[in-house]
Amino acid sequence: MNIVDLGLGGGQLIQVANRSHIQSMLYMIKSQNGKIILIDSGNYQKDEDGKYLYELIQSVGGRVDTWIFTHAHDDHFGGLLWIMENIENPKMEIGEMYFSFPPLEWVRSKSERLGRYLEKFYSYINQYGIVPKTLNKESIICVDDLFIEVLNDLDGYETYKDFNDTTIAFLVHFPKRSVLFLGDLAVEGGNKLLEMCPHDKLRQDIVQMAHHGQRGVTKEFYSVVMPKICLYCTPDWLWENDNGGGKDSGPWKTLETRAWMDELGVQASFPHAYGDYMFL
Ligand SMILES: [Fe+2]
Repeated sequence: MNIVDLGLGGGQLIQVANRSHIQSMLYMIKSQNGKIILIDSGNYQKDEDGKYLYELIQSVGGRVDTWIFTHAHDDHFGGLLWIMENIENPKMEIGEMYFSFPPLEWVRSKSERLGRYLEKFYSYINQYGIVPKTLNKESIICVDDLFIEVLNDLDGYETYKDFNDTTIAFLVHFPKRSVLFLGDLAVEGGNKLLEMCPHDKLRQDIVQMAHHGQRGVTKEFYSVVMPKICLYCTPDWLWENDNGGGKDSGPWKTLETRAWMDELGVQASFPHAYGDYMFL
Protein backbone atom coordinates (compact mmCIF):
# COMPACT_ATOMS: atom_id res chain seq x y z
CA MET A 1 0.00 0.00 0.00
CA ASN A 2 1.38 3.39 -1.01
CA ILE A 3 0.68 6.03 1.65
CA VAL A 4 0.49 9.62 0.51
CA ASP A 5 -0.26 12.63 2.71
CA LEU A 6 -2.52 14.94 0.73
CA GLY A 7 -3.48 16.97 3.81
CA LEU A 8 -7.09 15.77 3.89
CA GLY A 9 -7.19 16.82 7.53
CA GLY A 10 -8.82 13.66 8.90
CA GLY A 11 -10.03 10.38 7.47
CA GLN A 12 -8.51 8.25 4.75
CA LEU A 13 -9.22 7.80 1.06
CA ILE A 14 -8.14 4.41 -0.21
CA GLN A 15 -7.85 3.84 -3.95
CA VAL A 16 -8.11 0.10 -4.52
CA ALA A 17 -6.34 -1.16 -7.62
CA ASN A 18 -7.76 -3.91 -9.85
CA ARG A 19 -6.74 -7.45 -8.83
CA SER A 20 -7.46 -8.98 -12.26
CA HIS A 21 -6.30 -7.27 -15.45
CA ILE A 22 -9.68 -5.57 -15.91
CA GLN A 23 -10.10 -1.83 -15.36
CA SER A 24 -12.53 -0.96 -12.60
CA MET A 25 -13.26 1.65 -9.95
CA LEU A 26 -13.37 1.18 -6.19
CA TYR A 27 -12.63 3.66 -3.39
CA MET A 28 -12.98 3.19 0.34
CA ILE A 29 -13.21 6.21 2.60
CA LYS A 30 -12.74 5.90 6.36
CA SER A 31 -13.93 8.82 8.43
CA GLN A 32 -12.05 9.93 11.55
CA ASN A 33 -14.63 8.09 13.68
CA GLY A 34 -14.41 4.89 11.66
CA LYS A 35 -17.44 5.21 9.36
CA ILE A 36 -16.94 3.44 6.04
CA ILE A 37 -17.97 4.86 2.68
CA LEU A 38 -17.50 2.90 -0.52
CA ILE A 39 -17.56 4.53 -3.91
CA ASP A 40 -18.34 1.93 -6.59
CA SER A 41 -17.31 -1.69 -6.09
CA GLY A 42 -14.97 -2.87 -8.84
CA ASN A 43 -15.94 -5.33 -11.56
CA TYR A 44 -18.27 -8.28 -11.82
CA GLN A 45 -16.34 -10.37 -14.31
CA LYS A 46 -13.40 -11.62 -12.30
CA ASP A 47 -13.45 -13.67 -9.11
CA GLU A 48 -10.19 -12.17 -7.83
CA ASP A 49 -11.70 -8.67 -7.82
CA GLY A 50 -14.96 -9.77 -6.17
CA LYS A 51 -13.12 -11.82 -3.52
CA TYR A 52 -10.82 -8.92 -2.77
CA LEU A 53 -13.76 -6.57 -2.31
CA TYR A 54 -15.35 -8.99 0.14
CA GLU A 55 -12.07 -9.34 2.09
CA LEU A 56 -11.70 -5.59 2.16
CA ILE A 57 -15.17 -5.19 3.66
CA GLN A 58 -14.41 -7.93 6.21
CA SER A 59 -11.17 -6.15 7.14
CA VAL A 60 -13.18 -3.15 8.36
CA GLY A 61 -15.65 -5.23 10.34
CA GLY A 62 -18.14 -6.16 7.61
CA ARG A 63 -20.09 -2.91 7.68
CA VAL A 64 -20.39 -0.34 4.91
CA ASP A 65 -22.14 2.71 6.29
CA THR A 66 -22.67 4.46 2.98
CA TRP A 67 -22.29 2.97 -0.48
CA ILE A 68 -22.40 5.25 -3.52
CA PHE A 69 -22.40 4.15 -7.15
CA THR A 70 -21.40 6.56 -9.89
CA HIS A 71 -23.21 4.80 -12.76
CA ALA A 72 -24.66 1.50 -13.92
CA HIS A 73 -21.65 -0.10 -15.60
CA ASP A 74 -20.55 -3.47 -14.28
CA ASP A 75 -16.95 -2.38 -13.65
CA HIS A 76 -18.50 -0.03 -11.06
CA PHE A 77 -21.52 -1.74 -9.46
CA GLY A 78 -20.42 -5.26 -10.42
CA GLY A 79 -18.22 -6.04 -7.41
CA LEU A 80 -21.21 -5.93 -5.10
CA LEU A 81 -23.22 -8.04 -7.56
CA TRP A 82 -20.36 -10.57 -7.53
CA ILE A 83 -20.48 -10.79 -3.72
CA MET A 84 -24.25 -11.24 -3.60
CA GLU A 85 -24.13 -13.90 -6.29
CA ASN A 86 -21.07 -15.84 -5.13
CA ILE A 87 -20.88 -15.59 -1.33
CA GLU A 88 -23.52 -17.48 0.56
CA ASN A 89 -24.91 -15.39 3.41
CA PRO A 90 -22.22 -12.73 3.19
CA LYS A 91 -21.26 -11.19 6.51
CA MET A 92 -21.95 -7.72 5.32
CA GLU A 93 -24.10 -4.94 6.64
CA ILE A 94 -24.95 -2.02 4.39
CA GLY A 95 -26.29 1.20 5.90
CA GLU A 96 -27.30 3.62 3.17
CA MET A 97 -26.99 3.04 -0.55
CA TYR A 98 -27.13 5.82 -3.12
CA PHE A 99 -27.27 5.78 -6.91
CA SER A 100 -29.21 7.31 -9.77
CA PHE A 101 -29.28 4.83 -12.60
CA PRO A 102 -31.38 5.29 -15.75
CA PRO A 103 -34.54 3.14 -16.02
CA LEU A 104 -33.87 -0.56 -16.59
CA GLU A 105 -35.68 -0.54 -19.95
CA TRP A 106 -33.39 2.19 -21.25
CA VAL A 107 -30.32 0.33 -19.97
CA ARG A 108 -31.59 -2.80 -21.78
CA SER A 109 -32.04 -0.84 -24.99
CA LYS A 110 -28.36 0.12 -24.78
CA SER A 111 -27.04 -3.28 -23.76
CA GLU A 112 -28.98 -6.47 -23.21
CA ARG A 113 -26.09 -7.88 -21.15
CA LEU A 114 -25.92 -4.84 -18.90
CA GLY A 115 -29.69 -4.91 -18.50
CA ARG A 116 -29.43 -8.52 -17.28
CA TYR A 117 -26.71 -7.65 -14.76
CA LEU A 118 -28.65 -4.68 -13.48
CA GLU A 119 -31.85 -6.68 -13.13
CA LYS A 120 -29.95 -9.23 -11.01
CA PHE A 121 -28.41 -6.41 -8.99
CA TYR A 122 -31.84 -4.93 -8.24
CA SER A 123 -33.22 -8.32 -7.32
CA TYR A 124 -30.35 -9.00 -4.88
CA ILE A 125 -30.48 -5.62 -3.15
CA ASN A 126 -34.22 -6.12 -2.78
CA GLN A 127 -33.60 -9.55 -1.22
CA TYR A 128 -31.15 -7.97 1.18
CA GLY A 129 -33.78 -5.41 2.14
CA ILE A 130 -31.74 -2.49 0.86
CA VAL A 131 -33.79 0.52 -0.20
CA PRO A 132 -31.50 2.68 -2.36
CA LYS A 133 -31.75 6.45 -2.38
CA THR A 134 -31.21 8.66 -5.40
CA LEU A 135 -28.35 11.08 -5.83
CA ASN A 136 -29.96 14.46 -6.38
CA LYS A 137 -28.12 17.48 -7.76
CA GLU A 138 -26.98 19.84 -5.02
CA SER A 139 -27.91 17.38 -2.27
CA ILE A 140 -25.40 16.75 0.49
CA ILE A 141 -24.79 13.43 2.19
CA CYS A 142 -23.17 13.75 5.61
CA VAL A 143 -21.13 10.92 7.07
CA ASP A 144 -19.44 11.96 10.31
CA ASP A 145 -17.42 15.04 9.45
CA LEU A 146 -17.35 14.23 5.73
CA PHE A 147 -19.72 15.78 3.21
CA ILE A 148 -20.56 14.41 -0.20
CA GLU A 149 -21.93 17.09 -2.49
CA VAL A 150 -23.73 15.92 -5.63
CA LEU A 151 -23.04 18.05 -8.71
CA ASN A 152 -25.33 16.80 -11.47
CA ASP A 153 -28.31 14.57 -12.21
CA LEU A 154 -29.67 12.30 -14.91
CA ASP A 155 -31.71 15.00 -16.57
CA GLY A 156 -31.69 14.47 -20.35
CA TYR A 157 -30.12 10.99 -20.20
CA GLU A 158 -32.45 9.76 -22.98
CA THR A 159 -30.37 11.57 -25.60
CA TYR A 160 -26.96 10.40 -24.36
CA LYS A 161 -25.09 8.36 -26.93
CA ASP A 162 -22.41 7.37 -24.46
CA PHE A 163 -23.69 5.43 -21.44
CA ASN A 164 -20.79 6.84 -19.40
CA ASP A 165 -22.49 10.24 -19.49
CA THR A 166 -25.08 8.89 -17.02
CA THR A 167 -22.36 9.21 -14.35
CA ILE A 168 -23.28 11.24 -11.28
CA ALA A 169 -20.33 13.43 -10.30
CA PHE A 170 -19.73 14.64 -6.76
CA LEU A 171 -17.31 16.24 -4.38
CA VAL A 172 -16.17 14.54 -1.21
CA HIS A 173 -15.30 17.22 1.31
CA PHE A 174 -12.73 16.02 3.84
CA PRO A 175 -12.05 18.33 6.81
CA LYS A 176 -9.33 20.26 4.96
CA ARG A 177 -9.48 19.29 1.29
CA SER A 178 -12.01 18.09 -1.27
CA VAL A 179 -11.83 15.47 -3.99
CA LEU A 180 -13.76 15.70 -7.26
CA PHE A 181 -15.11 12.34 -8.40
CA LEU A 182 -15.97 12.13 -12.10
CA GLY A 183 -16.67 8.38 -12.42
CA ASP A 184 -16.73 7.58 -16.13
CA LEU A 185 -18.13 10.93 -17.26
CA ALA A 186 -17.57 11.50 -20.99
CA VAL A 187 -17.71 14.50 -23.32
CA GLU A 188 -21.44 15.30 -23.37
CA GLY A 189 -22.02 14.77 -19.66
CA GLY A 190 -18.85 16.71 -18.90
CA ASN A 191 -19.99 19.65 -21.04
CA LYS A 192 -23.37 19.60 -19.35
CA LEU A 193 -21.70 19.64 -15.94
CA LEU A 194 -19.65 22.66 -17.08
CA GLU A 195 -22.92 24.40 -17.95
CA MET A 196 -24.87 23.54 -14.81
CA CYS A 197 -22.21 23.77 -12.12
CA PRO A 198 -20.45 26.96 -10.98
CA HIS A 199 -16.86 26.71 -12.18
CA ASP A 200 -15.43 27.64 -8.79
CA LYS A 201 -16.96 24.40 -7.49
CA LEU A 202 -15.28 22.42 -10.25
CA ARG A 203 -11.92 24.08 -9.62
CA GLN A 204 -10.34 21.35 -7.47
CA ASP A 205 -6.78 20.37 -6.65
CA ILE A 206 -7.59 16.66 -6.41
CA VAL A 207 -9.59 14.84 -9.07
CA GLN A 208 -10.50 11.26 -9.89
CA MET A 209 -9.82 11.24 -13.61
CA ALA A 210 -12.86 10.49 -15.75
CA HIS A 211 -13.30 7.12 -17.42
CA HIS A 212 -10.11 5.45 -16.21
CA GLY A 213 -8.02 8.31 -17.58
CA GLN A 214 -9.02 8.20 -21.22
CA ARG A 215 -11.96 9.10 -23.44
CA GLY A 216 -13.58 10.84 -20.51
CA VAL A 217 -14.24 14.56 -20.24
CA THR A 218 -12.44 17.07 -22.49
CA LYS A 219 -9.20 18.96 -21.99
CA GLU A 220 -11.37 22.10 -21.66
CA PHE A 221 -13.15 20.47 -18.73
CA TYR A 222 -9.83 19.74 -17.01
CA SER A 223 -8.74 23.32 -17.77
CA VAL A 224 -11.60 24.44 -15.52
CA VAL A 225 -10.69 21.92 -12.81
CA MET A 226 -6.97 22.78 -12.98
CA PRO A 227 -6.01 19.74 -10.90
CA LYS A 228 -2.74 19.39 -9.05
CA ILE A 229 -3.23 15.75 -8.07
CA CYS A 230 -4.77 13.16 -10.39
CA LEU A 231 -6.21 9.84 -9.21
CA TYR A 232 -6.42 7.32 -12.03
CA CYS A 233 -8.45 4.06 -11.93
CA THR A 234 -6.09 2.88 -14.60
CA PRO A 235 -4.33 -0.51 -14.72
CA ASP A 236 -0.78 -0.82 -16.04
CA TRP A 237 -1.64 -1.77 -19.65
CA LEU A 238 -4.04 1.17 -19.92
CA TRP A 239 -1.67 3.54 -18.13
CA GLU A 240 0.97 2.86 -20.78
CA ASN A 241 -1.50 2.31 -23.65
CA ASP A 242 0.07 -1.09 -24.11
CA ASN A 243 -1.93 -3.77 -25.94
CA GLY A 244 0.96 -6.22 -25.66
CA GLY A 245 3.28 -4.53 -28.11
CA GLY A 246 4.90 -2.11 -25.66
CA LYS A 247 4.21 1.46 -24.62
CA ASP A 248 1.75 3.32 -26.87
CA SER A 249 0.94 0.24 -28.95
CA GLY A 250 -2.76 0.30 -28.01
CA PRO A 251 -5.80 2.27 -29.16
CA TRP A 252 -6.42 4.02 -25.84
CA LYS A 253 -6.01 7.73 -25.17
CA THR A 254 -4.42 7.65 -21.71
CA LEU A 255 -1.10 9.09 -22.85
CA GLU A 256 -2.97 11.98 -24.45
CA THR A 257 -4.78 12.72 -21.16
CA ARG A 258 -1.49 12.47 -19.28
CA ALA A 259 0.08 14.96 -21.71
CA TRP A 260 -2.84 17.37 -21.11
CA MET A 261 -2.27 17.10 -17.37
CA ASP A 262 1.44 17.86 -17.81
CA GLU A 263 0.43 20.96 -19.77
CA LEU A 264 -1.95 21.99 -16.98
CA GLY A 265 0.84 21.72 -14.41
CA VAL A 266 -0.30 18.61 -12.53
CA GLN A 267 2.13 17.79 -9.72
CA ALA A 268 1.39 14.11 -9.04
CA SER A 269 -0.53 11.22 -10.59
CA PHE A 270 -1.55 8.04 -8.78
CA PRO A 271 -2.75 5.18 -11.01
CA HIS A 272 -3.90 1.63 -10.24
CA ALA A 273 -0.80 0.68 -12.25
CA TYR A 274 1.33 1.48 -9.16
CA GLY A 275 -0.85 -0.45 -6.70
CA ASP A 276 -3.18 0.59 -3.89
CA TYR A 277 -3.01 4.03 -2.31
CA MET A 278 -3.99 5.32 1.07
CA PHE A 279 -4.37 9.07 0.93
CA LEU A 280 -4.34 10.98 4.20
FE1 LIG B 1 -15.59 2.19 -15.94
